[in-house]
Amino acid sequence: MASPSSSGATQVWSADAYAKNARFVADLAGGVVDWLAPRPGERILDLGCGDGALTERLVATGASVLGVDASTDLVAAAAARGLDVKLGDGAALDFDAEFDAVFSNAALHWMREAEAVAAGVRRALKPGGRFVGEFGGHGNVATMRTALAALAPRYDVDPALAHPWYFPTAEGYSGLLTGAGFKVERCVLIPRPTALPASGVVGWLETFMNPYLNQAGAAASAVLADAEALLAPALRDPDGVWIVDYVRLRFEAYAI
Ligand code: BEZ
Repeated sequence: MASPSSSGATQVWSADAYAKNARFVADLAGGVVDWLAPRPGERILDLGCGDGALTERLVATGASVLGVDASTDLVAAAAARGLDVKLGDGAALDFDAEFDAVFSNAALHWMREAEAVAAGVRRALKPGGRFVGEFGGHGNVATMRTALAALAPRYDVDPALAHPWYFPTAEGYSGLLTGAGFKVERCVLIPRPTALPASGVVGWLETFMNPYLNQAGAAASAVLADAEALLAPALRDPDGVWIVDYVRLRFEAYAI
């Protein structure tokens, strides 16, 4: 979930690229959905619902789900699945005690105003409601970030664009949730080496790092070739499959 903007410095989503290069994001979410354990009739907010692939699975459990995302293209793709979705900024949620649960998968790392997000989620929950989610934690995609930071000066790219995410430690995020009025039941880092689809690291970079590539401009294809060459020894297995060093932060917390 990104902030809507027409500036090249902000991640812009394409539902087509997401479907081609990032379907694994919803496919690998079984663990956090188990933690959510949605029940029929519950009212659930799916924060950063993306193209709705996972929202659809929550709806199939009998829950009543509203999806919110900041990308117009992804919200349109989710609406095309017949889901109840709305465009919105995760740091400016305006719900008031409406949800039994707020759920989020692979989206909170895009919302760097984490305290504002947690405060909005807390307000959105009914008393005792739960906030269950998973996103990138400390050390996530470190190899990718290091390679991109190393290449940045060669292509006159701002090195900060190699790390546009919020990847907290479990202790750090637990403290943030506690400060926002939650009782944290569990909050853990889970290393999860993740195999990419055939589009490999180039597809990943094109899907998730467009501000960096936009700043490289005409040199974007050289950046992609250099990044592939730098990363292959660390991330490509003997069969040619790219396996990226994902680290998930998974948590369950209750509004108090
Ligand atoms: C993640 O799901 O951890 C992630 C995806 C894209 C960019 C950065 C992190």
